[in-house]
Amino acid sequence: MNVCFITSECTPFAKTGGLADVSAALPAFLSRKGIRVKLFMPLYSSIQVLEYGFVKASELSQTAIAMGNEAIPIDVWYGQIPGSDVDVYLIDCPRFFHRGRIYTDDPDEADRFILLQHAAFVVMQRYNFSPDIIHSNDWQTALMPAMLKYHYNWDRLFASTRTVLSIHNLAYQGLSNPDFSIRAGLPREMADQGGLFEYSGAFSFLKTGIMMADRLSTVSPTYAKEIQSESFGEGLDGLLRMRSGCLKGIINGIDTDIWNPETDPHIASPFSAKDLSGKSACRAALATEMGLKLAENDPLIGIVSRFASQKGFDLLLSVFRDLMKFSNLRFAILGSGDRHFEYFFDQMSAAYPGRVAVYKGFNDGLAHRIEAGSDMFLMPSYYEPCGLNQMYSLRYGTVPIVHKTGGLADTVIDSDEFPGHGTGFSFWNATPDVLKDTIFRALDWFEDRKEWKNIQIRGMKTDFSWTKSADEYIEMYQSAKRESC
Ligand code: ADP
Ligand code: GLC
Repeated sequence: MNVCFITSECTPFAKTGGLADVSAALPAFLSRKGIRVKLFMPLYSSIQVLEYGFVKASELSQTAIAMGNEAIPIDVWYGQIPGSDVDVYLIDCPRFFHRGRIYTDDPDEADRFILLQHAAFVVMQRYNFSPDIIHSNDWQTALMPAMLKYHYNWDRLFASTRTVLSIHNLAYQGLSNPDFSIRAGLPREMADQGGLFEYSGAFSFLKTGIMMADRLSTVSPTYAKEIQSESFGEGLDGLLRMRSGCLKGIINGIDTDIWNPETDPHIASPFSAKDLSGKSACRAALATEMGLKLAENDPLIGIVSRFASQKGFDLLLSVFRDLMKFSNLRFAILGSGDRHFEYFFDQMSAAYPGRVAVYKGFNDGLAHRIEAGSDMFLMPSYYEPCGLNQMYSLRYGTVPIVHKTGGLADTVIDSDEFPGHGTGFSFWNATPDVLKDTIFRALDWFEDRKEWKNIQIRGMKTDFSWTKSADEYIEMYQSAKRESC
């Protein structure tokens, strides 16, 4: 089976969040199962092509991509996801992708990803690659199904191609000026008021994908249910209910080679469920690195996150000072994003020196060290399509404290609710007081070191590999080939 996997980010080349990790690990797993995957993404200026062994495809040099009545030249760099057989094609178009950031607020943001999608079709044509499945991810690549049906349908190469759209986050919909539909080669009137591709007066990339893809997936079973309700549906719940027969929640796996405390090159000392002693060394090293005063019995809560409203940190803000009355509590915080969260955490690190450490920015190595060195990991997200950090935490014996939503609800078992089976702590009502109570519950358990170790070990032994989920995607591909839904 041939699969075209198209994405706006992929580890290790370019990453802002979990989409990048999934875009590397899932194709690699599919390819191990005998599926031929070609992955398409932009060549952002930050990607060091030579370092990753990419070569320029000279036969595709300055290939013209038709967008509206313009012809935009691109180059293509070819390589592979490290340690896999997944072919990667980086679409090189400095005009669009040399912006210093992966995503922008520039007026041509829609055009950037329309170009990527046209380029994927054109490269497949040049290589005579006939995909059984085109797998799109999020709004940036959600036009592929419509472009296939309206613009590339003349080409027999794609005659039996079926499409899958994975929704990693329904809140980002790619709303743009309806004129962009012409650039994508789609009928302009469908992006007008009342048209299939229109939402809220704009041309919606994500709605277009939801209407046109043969199959829809999202990244956890609970989120698949949630987005069909008004409170999580971001205005698209009606459509998702309409298409529910084609929609499936498939929980993300994690890359158990990259996130493995026994072999992780970023951490101070290896450890495992059998021998947790190395975790103390990781804890101490993290404290030194971040400037925390940390005794053995001081509970250390880690946070690694985009600071976006989705992530629920405003709940934490309002109870932070109360929590800090618990005098030996420590925080190790890594993230960036909304200014007011950055500002607040900065203020807290100044107010509680040695107790609250904050690193603003993106730092992959430090993310690993916080996972390895913390005792607990906090994710109070209002909604969380899947979430990867709670799974990384479980694997590193770092007990997650989470809001019971989306993938967090599917992966963390509350230790009070399910005595003897718990892997973490979770709460239903996303309010500051409930969050505070849940953190206090976790701190109580932390005092009982024997029971705590049991919680850690159950989490570490849980299987979060891609094995089962990759099979579910393969089944979805096969059913898309077999029948319509
Ligand atoms: P989302 O994709 O919504 O941001 P996920 O939990 O799915 O949330 O994935 C986040 C990914 O991004 C994880 O791999 C996490 O380690 C990483 N990450 C987030 N913020 C940072 C940061 N500041 N530095 C390093 N890694 C980060
Ligand atoms: C999105 C979601 C996150 C999910 C990730 C990968 O960024 O916010 O919950 O884990 O995509 O699917």
